[in-house]
Amino acid sequence: MTQHDYLILHGVNLNMFGRRDPAVYGTATLDDINNALRHLASQMDVTLDFYQSNYEGALVDRIHKALTDGTRGVVINAGAWTHYSYALLDALDILHCPVVEVHMSHVQGRESFRHQSVIAPACCGCIEGFGSNSYLLGLMALDHVVREREAGKAGARTGKPE
Ligand code: DQA
Repeated sequence: MTQHDYLILHGVNLNMFGRRDPAVYGTATLDDINNALRHLASQMDVTLDFYQSNYEGALVDRIHKALTDGTRGVVINAGAWTHYSYALLDALDILHCPVVEVHMSHVQGRESFRHQSVIAPACCGCIEGFGSNSYLLGLMALDHVVREREAGKAGARTGKPE
């Protein structure tokens, strides 16, 4: 039985939002962000599950579980893993549902090592630079893609016809 529609994944160090550089990440805590997502989800009439870990393998395990737990779509902020974790890329690639990548900060405007996302090929799009609103926009984008996909329209996962 489906217990949630969408899965919100937070990667390494993101439990420290609120205590990390506020000029870059603002002052919202992860709980604040999750509560705002829960509120938006209730207005959208969808349900969410949340998971955060500082252990790459634990996040990989949660992604694997999403194959069979009824998850219809994923929003992921992989933190620094975004830039080098081929393990997360491979795990996300196993999923059949759409995945939206989000970042609080405008990663393209920061250090060059942040310019590359190795998980991007497994995602249908990325929203970055809008602080905690990146997550809310990411959820709205995900819902749009999932509904298009479930209505049989093309381009749901990759942006290309499937
Ligand atoms: C981040 C950006 C990453 O480069 C960084 O390592 C993070 C947070 C963001 O949300 O802006 O931990 O994913």
